[in-house]
Amino acid sequence: MLREGTKHTIKTIDRPVCVNDFQLLAQQQLPKDLYDYVSSGADDEQTLNENRNAWKRWYLRPRVLRSLAAAIDTRVVLPWQQQRHTLSMPVFVSPAGVQALMHQEGECAVARACEKAGILYGLSQHATKSIEEVAAAAPQCLRFYQSYILNDREWTWRLIERALQAGYQGIFLTVDSVRFGYRPADARNGFNALPAPHRLVHYDDDHTRDNNINSGKKAIYNGQTHSAWDQNSEQLLDTQISWRDVRWLKEKLPPQIPLIIKGIMTQEDAILAVEAGADAVMVSNHGGRQVDGCLAAIDVLPEVVGAIGHQVPIFLDGGVRHGSDVVKALALGATAVGIGKPVFFSLAFGGRAAVEQMLQLLKNEIKSCMALCGVDHIAAIPVSSVVTRHPSLLVGKSNL
Ligand SMILES: Cc1cc2nc3c(=O)[nH]c(=O)nc-3n(C[C@H](O)[C@H](O)[C@H](O)COP(=O)(O)O)c2cc1C
Repeated sequence: MLREGTKHTIKTIDRPVCVNDFQLLAQQQLPKDLYDYVSSGADDEQTLNENRNAWKRWYLRPRVLRSLAAAIDTRVVLPWQQQRHTLSMPVFVSPAGVQALMHQEGECAVARACEKAGILYGLSQHATKSIEEVAAAAPQCLRFYQSYILNDREWTWRLIERALQAGYQGIFLTVDSVRFGYRPADARNGFNALPAPHRLVHYDDDHTRDNNINSGKKAIYNGQTHSAWDQNSEQLLDTQISWRDVRWLKEKLPPQIPLIIKGIMTQEDAILAVEAGADAVMVSNHGGRQVDGCLAAIDVLPEVVGAIGHQVPIFLDGGVRHGSDVVKALALGATAVGIGKPVFFSLAFGGRAAVEQMLQLLKNEIKSCMALCGVDHIAAIPVSSVVTRHPSLLVGKSNL
């Protein structure tokens, strides 16, 4: 039996029955430094907490007596002109690094769970299993590769080329990380080196042997010069990246490969992303791990939808834990939403099977919420399904 609680109440659970339960269960199992690495946020964790709390400021307006189909259809089509992908539900796994810290099968296990669930898997550049290993483990899975722009543009492109050769069908370009946020929890735990035998396999690239972050004396990631191990990768990132780099990448990519700009938090940048050729924008604050003090992603969605309408699909992640969160995001204009931390927690709790279970629980909740709100398929979720008592959050929504 597991215990969660304050001095006065003790909650016990012995099996997960909703997405949040995996966090409790993982906390019991993981070493403190690993649990904190995944669960904590930047600075004062204001944005980390907002990402969860904000959903509670949006309310559903359930409709009744709607003569629904017996089976609620959660499928959604990602509507790019050159490629159309059907997801079994409007949810995907956001790209997030070092999943083998949670379970030895790491990214391979998560991709296989996505394959079974019929959803998109985002593989991080900071993965602990390689582009090719993950492709081999989950050949039928719809996989997109996530790139940062490195100082070395050729190296950046070479990794993307490897992903395209291995059958990845889209690119997330994460633009909120010219450096990495400061997480006090990691500093307190002294979590300043990636624990052996783990390494960021995509930095094993031969041409960097003389300055390889994963090898020998110059192993940047294993150095302990910073408070958190992933801040060390700042030596690889380029603070000078600009929209020019987005255009550069878009021009190099084959036309059928969608480019999704991940980390948009303002209408100004959403407009610039579309102008630079993005095939989708992703509203995200990196799960509260980058800028602390910015709004929750869901609170930014109306302003982004107001600015760019439905010129390109809009994705979102940050604090999605319930089917009702997914329905609210779709009502506000998102095409699909990503999940990050629940993937780590379920992987830590029970490997691939637990990730599958977590995704199934989320899908059940989406179905239930849709039925109870009076809709039986995704396209039928109207903007009028949500309302807020905070009118300032509605910026741009009227343009829908
Ligand atoms: C441990 C961890 C590692 C992450 N690594 C990356 C990464 O390598 N690239 C990236 O674009 N986002 C990364 N993210 C952010 C996720 O893609 C996603 O935006 C965030 O986790 C969503 O919020 P949620 O965790 O509340 O669902 C990471 C998140 C976590 C928790």
